[in-house]
Formats: sequence, C-alpha cells, structure tokens
Amino acid sequence: MLVSKNLTINSENHLVIGKNDTVELAKEFGTPLYVLDEDLIRENCRTYKNAMDKYYNGNGLVFYANKALCTLFTCRIMAEEGLGLDVVSGGELFTAIKAGFPMDRVCFHGNNKTATELEMAVENNVGYIVVDNDFELDLLDTIAAKLGKVQDIMFRIKPGVDAHTHSFIQTGQIDSKFGVALENGEAFEIIKKAAGLSNVKVVGVHCHIGSQIFDIEPFLKAAEIMVNFIGDVKAKLGLEIDILNLGGGYGIRYTKSDDPIEYDKYIEHVSEVVKKVAEERNVKLPFICMEPGRSIVAPAGITLYTVGCVKDIKNVRKYISVDGGMADNPRYIMYESEYTAVIANNANAAPTETVTIAGKCCESGDILIKDTKMPEIRVGDTLAVLATGAYNYSMSSNYNRIPRPAVVAVLDGVAKVVVKRETYEDLLRNDL
Ligand code: LLP
Repeated sequence: MLVSKNLTINSENHLVIGKNDTVELAKEFGTPLYVLDEDLIRENCRTYKNAMDKYYNGNGLVFYANKALCTLFTCRIMAEEGLGLDVVSGGELFTAIKAGFPMDRVCFHGNNKTATELEMAVENNVGYIVVDNDFELDLLDTIAAKLGKVQDIMFRIKPGVDAHTHSFIQTGQIDSKFGVALENGEAFEIIKKAAGLSNVKVVGVHCHIGSQIFDIEPFLKAAEIMVNFIGDVKAKLGLEIDILNLGGGYGIRYTKSDDPIEYDKYIEHVSEVVKKVAEERNVKLPFICMEPGRSIVAPAGITLYTVGCVKDIKNVRKYISVDGGMADNPRYIMYESEYTAVIANNANAAPTETVTIAGKCCESGDILIKDTKMPEIRVGDTLAVLATGAYNYSMSSNYNRIPRPAVVAVLDGVAKVVVKRETYEDLLRNDL
C-alpha cells in the first residue's frame, strides 16, 4: 500500500489518486499542486461518526479541527457530513461563517483569543467557546453581558498526561501555554469562579494532549482523569458537567514505519473508559466530543511537484530540487517530519539510491524529505509527496514571495479547483 489507501498505480505506471491520474493533474493544473481526495475525506468523517453511534449510542459529536486544513470547501464537507467544527481564530471562524456552517456546531479554541474574536464568536452564536484562562473568562463574561447573551463554555484543561510525540506538539503537560492545570487546583478554581458569573454557562471540560500520537494509552488515561475531574466538580461544587471534549491528536501513516490504529478504535476504547469511570463516580454519562484534524484530511491529500535541478555531490549527498518546498510544506523545517515520495510518472520503479528532496527556497533547511530511498529521478519528473492533506496548505506561507499552489479536489474521476493558485498580483494585494 502506498501509505494511503486511496492511492494506486495504473497501467501506464502513473500514480492515481481516487480515479485521477496524477500526471494528468499536474499537466492540467500545474505544479506545485495540492490534491485532495474528497471521497476519502468523507469516508474518514463517517468512520468517526459511525464509531460514535456504535460505541457511544451517538451521544457525542465529532468536531473537525479546522486548523489542519481550513477552506470553504472543507467546511462545506464537514457541514454536509454532520460534523462539528473546531475553529481557532477569527479567520477560521470567518471561513466557517462564509461556508454557511451551522454555528451551533462550532467550538472556538485558542490560548489568547482577542476581544474582537470573542465578540465575533458571541455575536454569531457560536455553540461553545473553550475558555483557556482566567483573563479570558472575565473578558468573555463582560463581552457576553454587553451583547445581552449567556455563552456556553468549556474549559481547556491540562490533564497532566505525557503524550509520546514531538515536543512542539505536546500539550497535555503542566508546562504548556494552553489551558489550566488540574494538578495545582487551577482548573477547579476557574470552574468555581465561572459558576458564579452571569453571562457564561459552564457546560463542558476539554483536553487535548498533543498531535500525531499512535499510542492509545495516553488518550485513555486522559479520559479517565477528566471523568474523575467531572466527579470531583460534582462532589465539591454540586455542578454537573454535561460535555467531555477529548480533543484530537490521532496519528496517521506518513511512512511505512508508522503504524496507526484504526480510527474507530479510539472511540471504542475511550467510550469504555468513560462509561466505567462515570459509573464509579456516579456522574451521568457525558456527551463526548472529539476533535480529529490530521486523521481526517492528511491521508486524503498529496502534493505534486516538478523536478528541476539534480545535484549529485559525490560522496556527500544527492539533492533533488523541486518547484515547491517549505513555503507549501514547512513541516520538515519545523519538526523534521518524515514523508514518503513517489515518482508519479514512474510509480512502480524500484528504489535504487538515497536522495534528499529539497525545496526552492533560500534556506538550507528547506527540505521535504531527507535521505530517502528512491528510483532514479530525472529532470521533469512529477514527484508526489504523500499524506500532505493536513498542516501543509494551512501552514503554507509566501516566503521568498512564492505564490501558494492551487488546491484541487478529485471525486469520481472529476477534478475541480477548490482554491485558486495565487498569482504574483495576489502577492501585492495589500502592498501600498
Ligand atoms: N483540538 C485541539 C484543541 C488542538 O489543538 C488540535 C491540534 C486538534 C484538536 C487537532 O489535532 P490533530 O487531530 O490534527 O492531531 N502543526 C502541527 C500540528 C499542530 C496541532 C495543533 N493542535 C503539525 O504539523 O504536526
């Protein structure tokens, strides 16, 4: 299997995504090009949703974490699939509004939401605001009062769970800028305070322990800790918490050595823990929310590049440079993330040499894949980097004044542009 199950190879030895020949896509739309398989995105949504129905009686909601890939197109898919949306900035919220996303299924996150963003959220009747800290709680209460509303809130809680992933994307431990901690009593105190405020209503607690996590244990541990906390809040404050939001973070396969578990297993096992602890603590079963981002869109995306310069530095390294790089995929330079590449026009060829795929930015760290085994790559080849659907387009930049690539979605053999390629004129749009 080519990392993601939607990828195949046709009789011409070309890489195919869904039913589309990637070499043809590159010709038609140019490179670099983000390609998304709409079918697989929808299938992933349904896997989570069905698991929630099967293992937890549908007493929950899956929120897609928009930060993984936020476009009008993806927001509309999530609306159609009946998912909720986790937004993390005014910009993501604005996109959801413009996509016509039902606001009661939106959950607003962030460790430093501005007053303007909070106002925008309350005014637009966002379902839940996940309050990060004491300062924000006061600010939100004041804003909601001014607008004559009572806002449903959850609290972002650090459960103190160590997740085995890159330190930049670990968030459950006390030394994190996100949320309030359990272990020093902060979480309890903020809920107590909120219970006495007039324009916010505490409906839930939230945690998110990190991202690209393969191990299921930290998720189970976090669920156990959070339900126990719900029990403590009930015992000490007499306050019933209705919603338990367990965040996202489920790992996906970028390379053959990654071994993620099936997505529905998370809900299956987490449900068991929640039910068990809720019974032990004599609290009602909470409505469960989860917020997968990467696992819904990453496997559905690939990026196509055209190979330019091939530089073989004898006894040192062979660099293959492509027409994109860190501006469209900054994940190697940020986290030394690993990816798999395929020569789209020669997809079955056996690997023969170790090469480094480099980008075109003025930066030595502008690498897409370091030291990877590939067949011989030639100038003009179309190179596909796999599993780029999450945190690529959404983290892209115009570094070196490089216009962002187009995003094309494929469905049943039909390809359509869902985000236009930026032009040089676009780059100057705000220059005065
Ligand atoms: N919920 C919350 C509150 C989050 O902070 C995140 C991710 C998610 C859900 C979704 O997590 P996912 O299922 O996508 O792992 N830029 C990094 C990932 C940062 C994740 C930030 N928060 C990367 O490229 O790996």
